[in-house]
This record gives sequence, C-alpha cells and structure tokens, in this order.
Amino acid sequence: MAPRDTITIRRPDDWHLHFRDGATMQAVVPHTARQFARAIVMPNLSPPVTTTAMAAAYRERIVAAVPEGVDFTPLMTAYLTDDTDPDDLARGFESGVLTAAKLYPAGATTNSASGVTDVRRIDRVLERMADIGMPLCVHGEVTSAEIDIFDREAVFIERVLQPLVERLPDLRVIFEHITTRQAVDFVDQSSDNVAATITPQHLHINRNAILVGGIRPHMYCLPVAKREEHRLALRKAATSGSAKYFLGTDSAPHHRHAKESDCGCAGIFNAPFALESYLAVFDEENALDRFEGFASLNGPRFYRLPVNEETITLERSETRVPGEVEGGGEPVVPFHAGETLGWRLVG
Ligand code: DOR
Ligand code: ZN
Repeated sequence: MAPRDTITIRRPDDWHLHFRDGATMQAVVPHTARQFARAIVMPNLSPPVTTTAMAAAYRERIVAAVPEGVDFTPLMTAYLTDDTDPDDLARGFESGVLTAAKLYPAGATTNSASGVTDVRRIDRVLERMADIGMPLCVHGEVTSAEIDIFDREAVFIERVLQPLVERLPDLRVIFEHITTRQAVDFVDQSSDNVAATITPQHLHINRNAILVGGIRPHMYCLPVAKREEHRLALRKAATSGSAKYFLGTDSAPHHRHAKESDCGCAGIFNAPFALESYLAVFDEENALDRFEGFASLNGPRFYRLPVNEETITLERSETRVPGEVEGGGEPVVPFHAGETLGWRLVG
C-alpha cells in the first residue's frame, strides 16, 4: 500500500501542559491554540494556583492571550497541598471552573515545594473527588533522596499509586507523562478509571539524548527520559489503540538561559510542533490510523467531555524547526530545534 500523504482527524486537545504567566504565557499560548481546541493547564505557577478563585483568574489571563479569531479553551486544574479545602475544590469542579486537580509530591519538580508531603494527608480531598467524579492528575515520582532519579516513577507506583487506586477504586486518575515500562504495565492492568498521558519527547528520546557527547539541557525534563526499553514500551502503548493512553505534551517553557545554566531547569518546550512530532512517531510505527484515537478521542472520553467537531489536516512535507522561538522577551529552545520533521499541519 502506498504511504498516506495526508491525514485528517478531529481537532485534538493537549491533556497536560504548562503556560506559565505574564510575557512567557503571551508568547507560548498561540502555539498551542493554533493546534489544539483545549488544553489541561498545569497550576505550578509561583505562587501555585491552589484555589478555585485563583484558577478562575488564571483562566482569564490565558483567554486574553489567545489570538483573535482562534477558538481555544483552557481547562483549569487546582494544585493540591496538604491544606486543600475539599469544599472549595468541589465547588470549583461543579461550577465548571476546575476540570481536575493536580497532585505534585512536594519537591518532585518545578514549583512543587508546596505540593503534598504525604498522600495520606489528603485522604479526605481524594475521597471527595472520587465521590463527585473529579479527575486527579498525578505527577508520579517519589522524592526521597535515597531513590535513584531513574527509579522514581517505578517506586512511586509501588509505594503510592497502587495503594491509592486500591483504597479509592472510583477515583479517576491520570498518570501523567509516563516514562517507564512499569507505568505502562500498571496502567494496562488497572481499571478503566486509570489512564495515562504520554509526551512527544518520551516517544522520541531515551536518556542517551541527555548525556551522550555532552550534557544537553534542552533534553532534560521530569520525569527524566529512561532507557531505550522504556521508550519502546511507551511507543507501543501510545500506538496500541488502547483508550487508556492519550496526548499530553507537558510542554514546559523555560528561557534559554535558565536551561543552559549550572542548575538547569527541567522542562522541554514542545508546543510549537507538537502534532508534527507525535505524528512522526505514529508514522514510524505504521499506526497512522490510530493517531486520531490518541490525539482526539481517548482524552475527552476519559475526562467525560465532548469530542471536538472541527477537523485538522496534516500533510507529508517538511517542517523545519527553528533553533529558538520568542518566549516573552527572551528566547526558548523548542524540542527538535534545528531538525526537519516529515509532516506539516496545513489546516
Ligand atoms: O520537566 C518538567 N517541567 N516536568 C515537570 O513536572 C514540570 C515542568 C515545569 O513546570 O517546568
Ligand atoms: Zn508537566
């Protein structure tokens, strides 16, 4: 069969990303709004978005950054802390301001210092979320100093996530930006209340990309990319056709100087060419027919939201990824900088 040269799918959504705030937000929102109808927006600002009122205000700032004539809806999350008020969360969800709540283990990643110190401390909040059907987005890494950074996701499953889904089988959990074979096995074996997002970078790179030939700060994100066997397990899961896996870029802009530093920030800015990046993987895996499920159908189904009615089309042609893009006064280096991708979003 001749390779397909165009693909038209329902307009996709991004089920996990970081917009930041202020000038950076202004610069990055248009990249996402150009491709996606909706996005789940992470609340790890400084200070974090911990209440319904803060999420409503942040949503307004994002909407104001969407270019004229572009249809894009940010879906807001609240950052859980040891002190989250379950009533405020429930009101936020029931009024439509909040779509989900986000569990950051304290100290796991960028701006997570106010995160949850022990998941048992938020039992009441999680019980309430299970009761009302509010989804929980999880950054799945333990933070104990004695656990090797490459093992933090697998240990989190054993110590935190498996016990959590056993305690609260009705809680709807998105295990975000998974990076390991163990996470794929866990999601496959869990009930339909457990799903996962997968980023483009974890489908494209393994840990060699960060370390071979010199330290490559623009390939560093959290959870950190793992060995090749894990990348292959993620590619298989994403292209398997299973409804448990869906698109979540984890696009996480940091200015060039903050990445190229003696303590470089974690995060890969993949928003500008996210669809071309994912589609390259589905093409390589001979799974173009499964791209729409991953990008446009499985996410809304899990979040119990309608699928988008509009469509988008990508064609087989070249997309040159620039070495940097404007990031609000300072440049940001995008994922695939300097490379050419084999697809292009045309409408
Ligand atoms: O690499 C990451 N960057 N991982 C995260 O979990 C957070 C994100 C950020 O906000 O920069
Ligand atoms: Zn993230």
